[in-house]
Amino acid sequence: MSKGVFITFEGIDGCGKSTQLNLLKNEFKAKGLEFIEVREPGGTAVGEKIRTILLDRKNDSMTRMAELLLFEAARAQITEEVILPALERGVHVLCDRFYDSTSAYQGYANKMGRDLTDFLNMKATNETTPDVTFLLDIDPKTAYGRRATRGEEDRIELMGLSYQEKVREGYLELARTEERITVLDADRSPEAIYEDIRKQVWDLIG
Ligand code: TMP
Repeated sequence: MSKGVFITFEGIDGCGKSTQLNLLKNEFKAKGLEFIEVREPGGTAVGEKIRTILLDRKNDSMTRMAELLLFEAARAQITEEVILPALERGVHVLCDRFYDSTSAYQGYANKMGRDLTDFLNMKATNETTPDVTFLLDIDPKTAYGRRATRGEEDRIELMGLSYQEKVREGYLELARTEERITVLDADRSPEAIYEDIRKQVWDLIG
């Protein structure tokens, strides 16, 4: 049996990745493909608890190292418990964020360094690499405008626009060296963005 295809969606907060994931999910359903949809941090009982800690605005004393290790802990759990078994069974995995988020947010924007985040990303995932990653690239101000309608900001969103700008730079730098990352202009209609995504996905899945 062939393995499932592992597809990840990345980008700054409010970039529209969840909308794209939903569009792809609907097409997978319509085609009768076997897949699961997961999100990071979270996606497991342990991971959802870690997510709550990470996003809680009250945890403003969390150190950068504690934050990094919590993201990696949630990732280790979901990789072993959910993602790897699915891929082995031939089930496709659609994932809202994976380790590129850590490279961009903790490695680049929080200045923890790529050597450390690359090392931990590989350890946490047992070197499980996405087959394709869609990076929805957008100006943080535009993304912020979209996000403003969604209610209270979480601990990471509270870091503000200049932080999101750094995260964006981190992602773009990463995309320059990682061939699996496709950068998409996310300041377009959801339909136009999705057209680019679906072409690449069906090339991969056949
Ligand atoms: P979400 O809002 O897309 O679900 O993601 C939760 C927040 O966590 C978002 O602000 C991005 C951040 N994050 C990191 O900083 N590092 C990571 O490794 C992951 C997966 C998410």
